[in-house]
Amino acid sequence: MSELARIGVAIDSELLNRFDQLIGERGYTNRSEAFRDLIRDELVQKSWESAETEVVGTVTLVYDHHVRMLNEKLTDMQHDHHKNILSTLHVHLDHDNCLEVLIVKGKAGTVQKIADALISTKGVKHGRLTLTTTGLEL
Ligand code: NI
Repeated sequence: MSELARIGVAIDSELLNRFDQLIGERGYTNRSEAFRDLIRDELVQKSWESAETEVVGTVTLVYDHHVRMLNEKLTDMQHDHHKNILSTLHVHLDHDNCLEVLIVKGKAGTVQKIADALISTKGVKHGRLTLTTTGLEL
């Protein structure tokens, strides 16, 4: 980590009160850490705009395994992208529904395409890609 720099921020007192309340609810014990996290989050989100950025993330899928060939389709797609899919967790939610969480890694553009293909597969009830950072730039 580089050396700490101190900054002064002028902010509307009502806005600051609301901010303090929010970060209190989220468990922050001081403002500085909350500000740092906001800045990091913006920087990480900005980095996803470049398709070449290395990212890691998770793809969450909920689907009915009774839909014909759906399990096979999703597994085939995951094998096709085995270099980008590091791990898969499968939970049988009930008699019909399955939850899968895939850990994905690679270029942002590639990971987004893989997630889009999985989520848009017929029979997938809900899907979400959550991206984060490899941590190297922070
Ligand atoms: Ni299942």
